[in-house]
Parts: sequence; structure tokens; C-alpha cells
Amino acid sequence: MLLLGTGGVSLFALQFAKLRGARAIMLSSSDAKLERAKALGADVGINYAKHPQWGALVREASGGAGVELVVETIGAATFAQSLEAVRMHGMIAVLGWIGGSEATLPLTPVVLKRVRVQGISVASLEAHEQMVAAIEATGLEPVIDHVYGFGQLREAFEQLVAGRHFGKLAIDFSA
Ligand SMILES: NC(=O)c1ccc[n+]([C@@H]2O[C@H](COP(=O)([O-])OP(=O)(O)OC[C@H]3O[C@@H](n4cnc5c(N)ncnc54)[C@H](OP(=O)(O)O)[C@@H]3O)[C@@H](O)[C@H]2O)c1
Repeated sequence: MLLLGTGGVSLFALQFAKLRGARAIMLSSSDAKLERAKALGADVGINYAKHPQWGALVREASGGAGVELVVETIGAATFAQSLEAVRMHGMIAVLGWIGGSEATLPLTPVVLKRVRVQGISVASLEAHEQMVAAIEATGLEPVIDHVYGFGQLREAFEQLVAGRHFGKLAIDFSA
């Protein structure tokens, strides 16, 4: 599978992927963050800032065919490369649009590769309970970059926008 960036969603996806024995290719703008992702189990790291045409590199790293699943958290800025990276009959799960919500959809590769583009918006209570049970059973530790007090909300959002974080930024409502 392919994970875009080292934000909260991608790192959780990495941890769940490794619990299921999946191979994970991770993108980041930072080599240091890629090293941290590898320490968490990422099999391959690609710096998307150094390699803007990363789709072909992902295919190569997957053995040539492409990845079965792209967790598409960025949107318009990355969709064409995600389509390049995905394999025949693969899926692009679209759940975020940090990089823009209006993407051009090249239909030729969608049809020829028989790709499934699947929108995802949170999930059911049942799925959430299953996720919590899996976290408890495996001892999975969420990757929390920093915990802010409620009074530090502004600082937390500034840090989120700056994109220096690795994993989740959390707010402690009691602090
Ligand atoms: N649909 C849903 O149910 C659902 C649920 C949760 C979140 N979301 C959405 O999913 C998205 C991600 O959430 P998040 O909490 O993980 O965000 P986040 O913690 O802010 O992570 C964003 C990361 O994306 C990476 N990034 C930025 N531009 C990129 C690009 N052009 N190519 C590749 N990677 C890029 C950066 O990684 P590096 O710093 O490593 O470069 C950045 O740290 C958001 O849009 C959020 O609203 C949707």
C-alpha cells in the first residue's frame, strides 16, 4: 500500500498495515521523517519533494505492478501520481484534500487499470469499536507528536499548518 505523508492518518494506516502484514511505501517531504516511519515499519520511503514524479518510483518499489491500495489524503495535488502508482484492479481510497479538492480525473488509466476510486468519510460505530478492540489487543501506540493544553489551541493549529509534526497533535481539554 501507499501512504502519502507522515501525518496522523498515514501513520495510523502504517501501523494497521503492519499489524496485518502488509507492505507499506511511505512518502514524505522530509528524509528525517522517512527514517522515523521506517523505524515504525515502513518498507520503503520516498521523498516527494525531491521526486515530484514519484508514481513511477512507487511502482518500481512495489516490484513493477504498482500498489494495491493508495490511502489518498492529499487530493488534487497528488491524484495523478496516485493513479500512476496504483496497480491493475487496485483501489485509491480518497479521504482528504489538503492539496486541493478539485482534481482532474484522467479516465484512460482509470478504465485500463480498472481502478476503484473509493470515497471514505469516517466509519460506523461498529468499525470504530473493532478498531479500538484491535488497538487494545495489540498494544498499538498511537504516534502523538505533541500534546497541547486547551489554552494552546492557537499554537497547535499553527503547528498543524506548518506541517512540521509527525503523527497526531493532541489537545488535552483538562490542561
Ligand atoms: N475522510 C475521513 O474520514 C478523514 C478522517 C481523518 C482525516 N481526514 C482528512 O485526511 C487528511 C489528512 O489528515 P491528517 O490528520 O493525517 O493530516 P496531517 O496530520 O496534517 O498530515 C498531513 C501530511 O500530509 C503530507 N503532505 C502534504 N502535502 C503533501 C503532498 N503534496 N504529497 C504528499 N504528502 C503531502 C505532509 O507529510 P510530510 O510532513 O511527511 O511531508 C503532512 O504532514 C486531512 O485532509 C483530513 O481532513 C479524513
